[in-house]
Amino acid sequence: MSKSEWAHTCVGIIAGVDLGSRINNRAHRTNEIDWQRLIVRRGQPFSLTVHCSSPLASDLELALLLKQDKITGDIVIRQRTAEGSDDKWWLRQQRAQDEVLLTVYSPARAAIGQYRLAFEDNVMDICFEILDRSKPALSNPSEDMSQRWDPAYISRVVVAMVNANDDAGVLVGKWQKPYTGGVVPTQWMSSVPILERWSRSKTGVKYGQCWVFSAVACTVLRCLGIPTRCITNFDSAHDTDGNVSIDRIFDVHKQQVDSHDSIWNFHCWIESYMQREDLSEGYGGWQVLDPTPQERSSGMFRCGPCPVKAIKEGELSVKYDAPFIFAEVNADVVNWEVRPDGQRKKLSSNSTQVGVNISTKSPYGDEREDVTLQYKYPEVTEVAPQTGDVQLKIKYASPVFGTDFDVIYELENTGGAEVRCKLNMVSKAVTYNSVHLGECQSSTVNVVVPAHKVHREVVRLLYEQYASCVSEHNVIRVIGVAQVSGRDQSILKMVNIPLSKPEITIKIPGWVILNQRITTTISFTNPLPVPLQQGVFTVEGAGLVSSKEIRIPGRIGPGQRVSVQLTFMPMRQGMRKFLVDFDSDRLQDVKGVATVVVHKTSPLFTSMLPNLRQRYGNVFSLFFGNRPAVILNGTKAIREAFISKANDFAGRPDELLLSNLTEGKGVIMANHGPSWRDHRRFALMTLRNFGLGKQSMEDRILGEVEHVAAELEKSNGKPMNPQILFHNASCDIICSIMYGTRYEYDHHFFQAMIQMMAECSKIANGPWGMVGLTLKVMNDHSYVKGHVKGIVAEHRASRIPKQPRDVIDSYLDQMDKREKSGLFDEEQMLATLLDLLFAGTDTTSNTICFAVFYLTTHPDIQVRCQREIDNVLEGKERASFEDKDRMPFMQAVIHESQRFCSTLPLSVYHATTKDTELQGYRIPKGTLVIQNLSSVLYEEGQWKFPHEFNPDNFLNDQGELQQPEAFMPFSVGPRMCLGEGLARMELFLVLVTLLRRFQFIWPEDVGPPDFTPLFGVTQAPKPFSMVFRPRDSHT
Ligand code: HEM
Repeated sequence: MSKSEWAHTCVGIIAGVDLGSRINNRAHRTNEIDWQRLIVRRGQPFSLTVHCSSPLASDLELALLLKQDKITGDIVIRQRTAEGSDDKWWLRQQRAQDEVLLTVYSPARAAIGQYRLAFEDNVMDICFEILDRSKPALSNPSEDMSQRWDPAYISRVVVAMVNANDDAGVLVGKWQKPYTGGVVPTQWMSSVPILERWSRSKTGVKYGQCWVFSAVACTVLRCLGIPTRCITNFDSAHDTDGNVSIDRIFDVHKQQVDSHDSIWNFHCWIESYMQREDLSEGYGGWQVLDPTPQERSSGMFRCGPCPVKAIKEGELSVKYDAPFIFAEVNADVVNWEVRPDGQRKKLSSNSTQVGVNISTKSPYGDEREDVTLQYKYPEVTEVAPQTGDVQLKIKYASPVFGTDFDVIYELENTGGAEVRCKLNMVSKAVTYNSVHLGECQSSTVNVVVPAHKVHREVVRLLYEQYASCVSEHNVIRVIGVAQVSGRDQSILKMVNIPLSKPEITIKIPGWVILNQRITTTISFTNPLPVPLQQGVFTVEGAGLVSSKEIRIPGRIGPGQRVSVQLTFMPMRQGMRKFLVDFDSDRLQDVKGVATVVVHKTSPLFTSMLPNLRQRYGNVFSLFFGNRPAVILNGTKAIREAFISKANDFAGRPDELLLSNLTEGKGVIMANHGPSWRDHRRFALMTLRNFGLGKQSMEDRILGEVEHVAAELEKSNGKPMNPQILFHNASCDIICSIMYGTRYEYDHHFFQAMIQMMAECSKIANGPWGMVGLTLKVMNDHSYVKGHVKGIVAEHRASRIPKQPRDVIDSYLDQMDKREKSGLFDEEQMLATLLDLLFAGTDTTSNTICFAVFYLTTHPDIQVRCQREIDNVLEGKERASFEDKDRMPFMQAVIHESQRFCSTLPLSVYHATTKDTELQGYRIPKGTLVIQNLSSVLYEEGQWKFPHEFNPDNFLNDQGELQQPEAFMPFSVGPRMCLGEGLARMELFLVLVTLLRRFQFIWPEDVGPPDFTPLFGVTQAPKPFSMVFRPRDSHT
């Protein structure tokens, strides 16, 4: 119902109504369809707020009047009475002053449709229009309406209506050129324009092929609230005569004669998840539905719903169309030779060729999920029948459309005597559904293959040969027939060679912010040896930009690169896909895609510093109050300062918050000099000594992960914020190394440490950090310091010299050793301990938080990690750090998380130790120097995907780990992080163990993730909730 209708009905009392579309639609997972109109699903409550002009009298009860044009009589929704039942509409009211919150409950079997809502033209309405214009709705509206509760009925109507054969359906199918008067099927990029065209024109939209039909049906059924997914079956049989075999006929010259049966290289259909009340029990769940018009079912071009289970069990009498679907995935392929007298001879047969790699898109990302085993029991691989000792193979490298390429026919003679063969080689262009187009090449040779030898015939397929006949599906079928002299049988081998398309490069600049213009650059290089004309890019991206065409004037010469720019304003937050299609006279359907993360706001420094850098270059200065600071940006300037002129830039400023706290002692804020050097060396050695006491570093980390896993298990699959847990765990790992003990997470001292670090982190690099201390930090710091003093005293009493249990014992050993040097004393020890605690907790835990956040919001990457982990750790009880060398993808993900989150965006501030010079600028001694590490970690030209979370930034073409020199989250030079080894071990063991045990899930009802970090010394993700689902019960 629209607001105006409400206001009209309730004049006087009701001042307004808030349909809460945004919140309701999100909860009902319809926010991607629309968030301005209320679109809700059946069987799930939604809420409205009614604003009254004055508080409602307590005896006044609100009722809702629901109008549905197709239903005779209105539905009155009232408060639930004691005997109210789940198959009725009812509501609950909550009152607060002059507002009433109504929670409306709908029955799960309510008829789907438009309940007096003032909708504009769009997808949702078009879905209802599809139902209304279907044959059953037109011929008997009330009968049709009475069945609209039933998903089996609805889905059968939809698949019939998606094709335009024999009704007023949406799409006209065409499987071969010319596609005049319509759109080439491979060019469509989404279902919405198709549905809109259909609704506007009231006639079938030209043209569709199986993936277009299934995509449209999937959209419509999902909009109507029926969970649906697209399925692709490879080597899909189209058995016209119902004998569950695909008969391929060859003449005596081994030329294939077209027959009615065919094998499509692939075929797409959909599956919908539903109850089947029309069947006996056990057939609910995924159902096959096929909107591509192939064969008629009860007089109309449609197929299904048919339970996937029935296909697997071979129960072919189960409704609907089980025999046809069964053949699609199970038919035997039989090659026949037909003699001139009509007699048939069986050449070969194969029962495992059809129905392989049946796939759907993973719900967790863009990964392929294999569902073959849901359709059939595992098949025993059949060895292709060969003629005795002669084998024929056809080999080829993956060719790119536009290039010449070689096909190798390999005849192997495994017998002891020489054989003579006549080898017939043919290449033809075919469509994806096996319609033969022109012949690209054909030749016959006589060959002699000596005993135990291989003979190779190489045939080069030239672009000019295939360009004129290849279809828009870009498949070339290569057939080899070898006739061995003196034997009656021939060997037939056939392969389909797909020609891949060139790449489109999409460059998305910088940080993308909601409602702020960005300019993308789209580029493409002509791979053909001939020029292209009428080039056009079509771009599209839900929430980013509506469909647009960018035409390229003139011709694009061979090898020429064209770039176009597009400026647009992202309209929705979160992760979005930007799709590009390129078409021209000779080359069509080149596709490109980029993932764009739309942030709500821009973080201070990532927005300010790049602008300053663009204006003033890689080295510029800023004034903090009256204090100048030099900011260094980019790999080159940072490496020059901190590696080439390492000693000049290795100092620390002495007037910051942290220097005040530590009084220049310890390591982090200690100025460049002997005490810093010795303490740094001590800390490095101690942390490197992974066998402190009895427990190795690895044991300590894995022990802590057990506590984390136990806490996560307690969440019981409910959304939770893991950030505090990760902080506690990181802090406890450092405590265990330093003090030899871990603390319960609610221990008072433990809490104070965490609190102190959080406060310091928030303000240390900000304006207050420049000025000095805050009282709060002072208090926490002195409490923590006092407690650590107590721990040191206990250690002195219980230690055995030269047998260190932890860092404190090691330091006490050093004090004994260096009695007279004066550099190692208790004050220095306390400062060093606090440094390690401070430097090692927030950094590592925030990085873990970010990594978990990225993995949760990139489920495809998560699944790939889990596969690698499961593989490498198979049979092992727990992970160990050594395993990393066999997990290049996991390592790439960890590196990429570190790069993308830029934990310490401005590193730790440095100062010059003497007058120096950098890139032509003179910098006096004692100047504050800030490394802008983010500028390096996102630097264009250093990364394949600088602004995208993409592990490929760390993988080479062979999938091996590679580390670009711009990867410096730990900084570089003499002051670079000394805890890198520990941090890497911790990140690896924590993430691998958690990924092995849990699936990380982003709950749908919390809205899109916000990738904008909270700025501090260490950046943290904004608070978020997620679900940890134990994998054992899931996989
Ligand atoms: C992912 C985790 C970590 C990151 C990203 C990180 C990053 C950094 C960075 C950027 C610096 C500043 C380097 C410079 O001034 O040029 C630093 C310094 C330091 N880090 Fe880390 N760190 C991490 C974990 C750790 C751990 C676990 C420890 C030890 C327990 C640690 C101890 C230190 C110390 C003591 C310094 C000061 C070094 C000096 O001034 O000589 N860090 N770290």
